[in-house]
Amino acid sequence: MALESSRTAFERARRSVGGGVGSGLRAAMRPHPLFVREARGAHVWDLDGDRYVDYVLAWGPLVLGHGDPRVLAAVSETAAKMQVVGTGHALEYLAAEAVLEAVPHGERLVWSNTGTEAVQVALRLARAATGRRRVLKFAKSYHGWHDTVYAGMSEEDSDRPARPGGEGQSPSVLDDLVVGRFNDVALAERLLNEAAERDLAAVLVDPVMSNAGVEAPAPEFLSALRTLCDRRGVVLIFDEVIAGFRIARGGAAEKYGVLPDLSVYGKAMAGGFTQSAVVGRADLIDQVTAGVTHAGTFNANPVALAAVEATMRVLADPEVYEALERTSAAFEALVGGALASVPGSGGFNRVGSLLQYVPEGGATGLHGTGGLWTVLLEGMLREKFLFMPSGKVFLSTAHIAADLEATAEALEKVLRRA
Ligand SMILES: Cc1ncc(COP(=O)(O)O)c(C=O)c1O
Repeated sequence: MALESSRTAFERARRSVGGGVGSGLRAAMRPHPLFVREARGAHVWDLDGDRYVDYVLAWGPLVLGHGDPRVLAAVSETAAKMQVVGTGHALEYLAAEAVLEAVPHGERLVWSNTGTEAVQVALRLARAATGRRRVLKFAKSYHGWHDTVYAGMSEEDSDRPARPGGEGQSPSVLDDLVVGRFNDVALAERLLNEAAERDLAAVLVDPVMSNAGVEAPAPEFLSALRTLCDRRGVVLIFDEVIAGFRIARGGAAEKYGVLPDLSVYGKAMAGGFTQSAVVGRADLIDQVTAGVTHAGTFNANPVALAAVEATMRVLADPEVYEALERTSAAFEALVGGALASVPGSGGFNRVGSLLQYVPEGGATGLHGTGGLWTVLLEGMLREKFLFMPSGKVFLSTAHIAADLEATAEALEKVLRRA
């Protein structure tokens, strides 16, 4: 029976793995996580061998789909030669050169493993350079799970003392956090004008609020942050862990024409392997050998950097982004059209190949958007279309028209039953 093997596997996993999931946010998958035995292109196969169209794409990294042969070839060739060496190797600078070439403000970078770690490094660089300690972030934005920024996770947290995003977090570090409201220039201006009193080292912003509704920046928002940071000597950090190499090859800086001091990249940069980076001003980054600690056994491991270099080579072709845009516009028209055929069902926000389901008159949620989306999530899984609990939708160059048409058709059916 469909999904039976995943349900059984989930029950077994819960006896050995905390919560039965490899990452806490996956617990929100409904009716339970799908257990996958193989993934290729735009599809995954479950333990029974049933095929699903995949709009989760590993929560973002797979802009080229699963198992792109060019990335796999580079990884296999490198893995056969070395796995992790703990000293220099040529891919450290070959992959770095390829990333810096793509990023408009890329003078230098440091490698890290996950987005969470790289955000931490970026904040440390900003604090060291300014000699200040506080950071301005925006309500609801997700920058990884560490105590210092996993806070201020609801709309009501704007312009108020930050509250931790979960249990077990230290409240004392939250004294270092100031919470603004995305796209609210007046509030950002007030908070930044008080920068000296607030001891503000950095503004940390996800330029498209990837995890909080996929909200594009208002035309003046990012440039206002740039001007205000310059005036107050504050470091502007773009968290492009989702947006980077997805909404454009040069990420938000290329798309919106505003250059931050530092950007954090992860996900799409390594085409499905674990690697992140802090990219930007050389004087800031070079502090890593002048007092700022940046460490990690697996930083810059050859296998992941082979994936980065190969992915960068593929993404250098502008046709990749044209294809992503065509596919994403077609998804919006077809699948969005299916939603629109039932009034009150909500719609999709879209920035390039990053989309988000938004309920009619409602809000999205990092841990699950709830309401009608939960019904659609489960209904679509049963029809063999895999979506995320938050309603975020990732697209890749591997999705083809037939995938999108089948998705729209199934969604109409599920909506009729809902
Ligand atoms: C905008 C943003 N920043 C940071 C992170 C954390 O990255 P990671 O999950 O690799 O630690 C994420 C993860 O989804 C993210 O979306």
